[in-house]
Amino acid sequence: MAQGGRDGFTSTFGALLATLGSAVGLGNIWKFPSLTGSNGGAGFLAVYLAATILVGLPVMIAETMLGRAARADAVTSFDRLAPKGQWWWKGIGWMGFAAALLIMAFYSEVAGWVYAYIFKSVTGEISTVDPKVAAVVFGKLVADPTSSLIWQWVVLGVTGVIIAFGVSKGIEAVARRLMPLLFVLLLVLCVRSLSLSGAWQGLAFLFNPDFAKITPAVVLTALGLAFFKLSLGMGTMLTYGSYFRDDQNIPATAARVMLADLSVSLLAGIAIFPAVFAFGFEPAAGPSLVFMTIPAVFTSMPGGVVFMTVFFVLTAIASVGAILSLLEVPVAILSQRYRMNRKLAALTTIAIIAVMGCPAALSQGAMANVKLFGFNPFDLFDFLSSNVLLPLGGILICLFVGWVVGLAGPERRLSVDGSLANRVTIRTVFFLIRYVAPVAIAIVLLNGLKLF
Ligand code: TRP
Repeated sequence: MAQGGRDGFTSTFGALLATLGSAVGLGNIWKFPSLTGSNGGAGFLAVYLAATILVGLPVMIAETMLGRAARADAVTSFDRLAPKGQWWWKGIGWMGFAAALLIMAFYSEVAGWVYAYIFKSVTGEISTVDPKVAAVVFGKLVADPTSSLIWQWVVLGVTGVIIAFGVSKGIEAVARRLMPLLFVLLLVLCVRSLSLSGAWQGLAFLFNPDFAKITPAVVLTALGLAFFKLSLGMGTMLTYGSYFRDDQNIPATAARVMLADLSVSLLAGIAIFPAVFAFGFEPAAGPSLVFMTIPAVFTSMPGGVVFMTVFFVLTAIASVGAILSLLEVPVAILSQRYRMNRKLAALTTIAIIAVMGCPAALSQGAMANVKLFGFNPFDLFDFLSSNVLLPLGGILICLFVGWVVGLAGPERRLSVDGSLANRVTIRTVFFLIRYVAPVAIAIVLLNGLKLF
């Protein structure tokens, strides 16, 4: 317990780990490689890096600070911080509520595939370097309605139980233990992948940009990924910030999380792309890319089955930290704002996601022909959240902090009442939040959606 009886992170290091636990997840291991592969490689990576540093980092600082200043859930925080009468700001929190459910609906399905791959790894079913065989195994899993749904429900069950136990016991305990091991295994994968013959092609794909491939839609996808990766734009960082201690150094925490998160993504990229070219996989395969390539790298090394099993177990655990942080947004709103019992709030949220998750789970099987705006439900949820709601939430958070809250509050709060000498940093961040980020996001959003 911290801060006037509210549950919270008990140490500054614990808060850093939980925030990292939220950021690092399937976004690094699944989404980043898939999107990089299907959007042309290095050029996409360059735009993604720029978006992360110039927009992601400042928004992360702003969002976390709002939560710590208000010490409330994503909706109530805006009630507390907005000037009297400006009730509409809390719409940001409600948008976050909706985005959390949309993201969870497809994210829990991908986590389900990871759980399933733990077992397929043990049975040897996925021990193949042949792209055709790998595609059949993956295709069978995602096309089968029963297994798609059951694995999703297993994921929801596991995370629902953890979230019901509360912030410090649940999230902190899980986040503390897992990251370093995953990092080491990714390093092992990188070494193996880089030693395959033809590995250099993968490196060139990842690091030698061809800017001709960058369209407005690609830029929007890179920006959406930057938000998705750092869990921004929908109240996760705000809610976590509300559990931070008063003496937590927010800019330093945010910068560390960003750097660590980027390194995990890059390692995943270096583990995957050399192997993609060495074994003849298709870099633009999309969501299936990782599930075919990673087993191939493990299969080609001694002790592969053991390493592969451990890898999928760790990825499953990494996804838990991210899912917990997604669930925390609606659970905090229901339990703190509406005084719902925390366990009931967790159960309600999980139940809603289980219903919304069905169309996402069935997208590659029973509902493969259901298309809305040209997307199947899985892709639609992904597009709507990452490419629309998160950037929109980001613009609104920037406008709120930059133009409504003003500089004085952030300057005091981010310097911990003057005890941190970081004035220049704060002013730079504030400038980015006030002018650069909202304009950049707006242009990218309007262009990317072809509204402009
Ligand atoms: N950042 C996580 C990942 O990359 C996913 C995630 C957790 C998220 N919380 C979020 C994405 C909030 C957007 C918003 O796997």
